[in-house]
Amino acid sequence: MKALLLLGGFGTRLRPFTITTPKALLPIVNYPFIAYQFELLRKYGIEEVVLGVGYKGEEFKKAIEIGKKMGIKVYLSYEKKPLGTGGGIKNAEKFLKGKEPFFVFNGDVLADFNLEKILNFHKEKNAYITIGMVKISDPSSYGLILTDDEMRIIKFIEKPKKEEIITDTINAGLYVFQPEVLEEIPKNNEVSIERETFPKILQEGKEMFGYIHYGYWLDVGTIEKFKKGNFDLIDGKIELLYKKSEENLDKKDNVLIGNNVVIEGKLIADENVIIGENSKFKGKVIIGKKSFIGKNCTIENSIIFENVFIGDECFIENSIIGNSVILKNNCEVKNSALGDNSFINQFSKISN
Ligand code: GDD
Ligand code: MG
Repeated sequence: MKALLLLGGFGTRLRPFTITTPKALLPIVNYPFIAYQFELLRKYGIEEVVLGVGYKGEEFKKAIEIGKKMGIKVYLSYEKKPLGTGGGIKNAEKFLKGKEPFFVFNGDVLADFNLEKILNFHKEKNAYITIGMVKISDPSSYGLILTDDEMRIIKFIEKPKKEEIITDTINAGLYVFQPEVLEEIPKNNEVSIERETFPKILQEGKEMFGYIHYGYWLDVGTIEKFKKGNFDLIDGKIELLYKKSEENLDKKDNVLIGNNVVIEGKLIADENVIIGENSKFKGKVIIGKKSFIGKNCTIENSIIFENVFIGDECFIENSIIGNSVILKNNCEVKNSALGDNSFINQFSKISN
């Protein structure tokens, strides 16, 4: 069975990081996000994955290598212009068509979906389309789905207005499609699967069902949720790819830690990280490959990407520091997101 990942979005809510890197290749606990999706697929024996890409599409050549290491064959389906979620699926038709149903995933969801159960449900119901759903406390920025008591879908309300919020059940960004669904989407057009194709199929009276996922689910598409995804993995709220450990320090090869470094909470340091003496880490801190932290720094609940240089006496709290950022001595950064290659002069104060 094959799966398609929709990865062509601009990731605007994750700027500045998506200016340089597409959302799915941003690091979550030092692994590119897409590796978590590959891991879920691998777990259920799905070894052929199509990536529907557009924005920064060339970057996804890296995903072919990531897939290879995980035993997954990756195909790239390029969109010359953004075709929307439906258009992106149609564009990948040549990789997906056949007799079997296939999975489609939104490319920004971190979840421990049970793909076996959802597929069995799809077959038992003899569904044309099955949509994975979750119940959440604030459904306002998602696609609401109403079902009857047999879980047959009866209505879609995409991005509801306040008065339209009549359910807590949303589209979780996971679908099982019968191959014929591809014929429902016009070619070379911009099409939204949620706003156009699903309602059209519903009107035609074809059987669409919703399957509720009760496990972990998070759309990592905003800065806050991206941070939450990282920290939830560290806490073991979802077990996928990253394995929770009890030690304060979780380090890869060649990590150098200076004298009197204090870790109150959890520090995750990737290969070749150097940490200067007397620096202190509080809460959860993740540091990417080849990053350098100076002496007497305090870093709390923050994510530092690769090749970052942080000088002495810096204070960083609740922030994300992009790749190759240089932060000179005595800087203070709070509640902020510093894009790749930022240069911050000494004694700067940045807060939000
Ligand atoms: N190939 C391709 N082409 N992919 C696209 C395009 C496109 O033109 N536009 C968006 N995508 C991808 C994004 O990269 C993302 O992985 C996925 O489609 C969903 O797009 P988002 O922009 O993240 O949508 P959303 O989060 O606002 O809403 C969607 O996801 C919710 C769950 O997280 C909808 O499907 C909602 O109904 C759903 O509740
Ligand atoms: Mg999203």
